[in-house]
Amino acid sequence: MANVRLVALKKIYDKNVVGIEDINLEIEDKEFCVLVGPSGCGKSTTLRLIAGLETPTEGEIYIGDRLVNSVPPKDRDIAMVFQDYALYPHMTVFDNMAFALKLRKYPKEKIRKRVSDVSKLLGIEKLIKRRPRALSGGQRQRVAVGRAIVRNPQIFLFDEPLSNLDAKLRVEMRTEVKKLQRELGTTAVYVTHDQVEAMTMGDKIVILNEGLIQQIGDSKALYDNPINHFVAGFIGTPPMNFFQGIVDKGIFISSDGNIKMPLKRVKGKVTIGVRPEDIIIDTKGKIRARVELVEALGNEALLHLSIGEVRSIMRTYESPPKSDDTIDISFRSEKLHIFDTETGKRL
Ligand SMILES: Nc1ncnc2c1ncn2[C@@H]1O[C@H](COP(=O)(O)OP(=O)(O)OP(=O)(O)O)[C@@H](O)[C@H]1O
Ligand SMILES: [Mg+2]
Repeated sequence: MANVRLVALKKIYDKNVVGIEDINLEIEDKEFCVLVGPSGCGKSTTLRLIAGLETPTEGEIYIGDRLVNSVPPKDRDIAMVFQDYALYPHMTVFDNMAFALKLRKYPKEKIRKRVSDVSKLLGIEKLIKRRPRALSGGQRQRVAVGRAIVRNPQIFLFDEPLSNLDAKLRVEMRTEVKKLQRELGTTAVYVTHDQVEAMTMGDKIVILNEGLIQQIGDSKALYDNPINHFVAGFIGTPPMNFFQGIVDKGIFISSDGNIKMPLKRVKGKVTIGVRPEDIIIDTKGKIRARVELVEALGNEALLHLSIGEVRSIMRTYESPPKSDDTIDISFRSEKLHIFDTETGKRL
């Protein structure tokens, strides 16, 4: 069993720099778990702690049932793939992939077989004699993944492995990595700052900010029920639109007075969040908006609106109005997200 359990994990670097504050997380056996969040939120720190490349300031790390806090990286049965691939430039693809097995004194024939099997799996068997500099970015990435796979580890740790690839290749590779992980049945912890990558790859997605877990869930749960303002704004492209205001006697009035709508159950200072697809053109709508810009994407159009001075983006699948038009809109009331403006918490 290769589940991973992090208990009250904390890492403070020199000069009191907070790496992570307090992480409690359970990753199941065979699960693909993605850690996502903005730069500096503690993703790599968490991964490096699991790998044993950093020591925790407080807390416990379990792999399976074993407490590994003081187990050196090489004995943790993990394999890590980094953003910059970290291939040995003077070695061939074969030697790069064979390296860890040689270190572990595997018999020659077994190494040859294993490297050959894995390179077939990844479609790089023809590249086996080349050196990394004679490979494209995508091929290097495959070698780096191959090097992790040959060791047949209990856990894969990926730190932004696709971010050096161009957009198209990144989309291809993310399906490949995910497929491979499923076939091999190896538990994976995958770090990215790209929320689309996180949403498409993760069985379990962990959203981090400032060294703390904000929310854990699958993509649908995070999209439909973000627990706070941060998660709501982080997940979804284009992002959720937010309007600050105040609720008095069951009526929400936005700060600039341009939006007025009934809002039951809550009162005081609130921020309402509306996804782009939950703003609709509505001749009976009570909100007036000016179309600043139309981005027609073929199957859909994104309308950049200004409601008074406040900007927002809506998505429509119908034939869009033109720039500079004035339109009446409304929000799908059942799809509104309401947050406490002070705490950011969902109400
Ligand atoms: N070796 C280190 N020494 C001191 N501070 C560090 C060290 N490594 C990371 N930090 C700090 O810890 C915090 C978390 O860093 P971490 O590398 O985990 O972020 P990240 O989420 O991986 O960000 P990115 O998306 O930019 O890679 C940051 O404030 C960072 O500056
Ligand atoms: Mg990082």
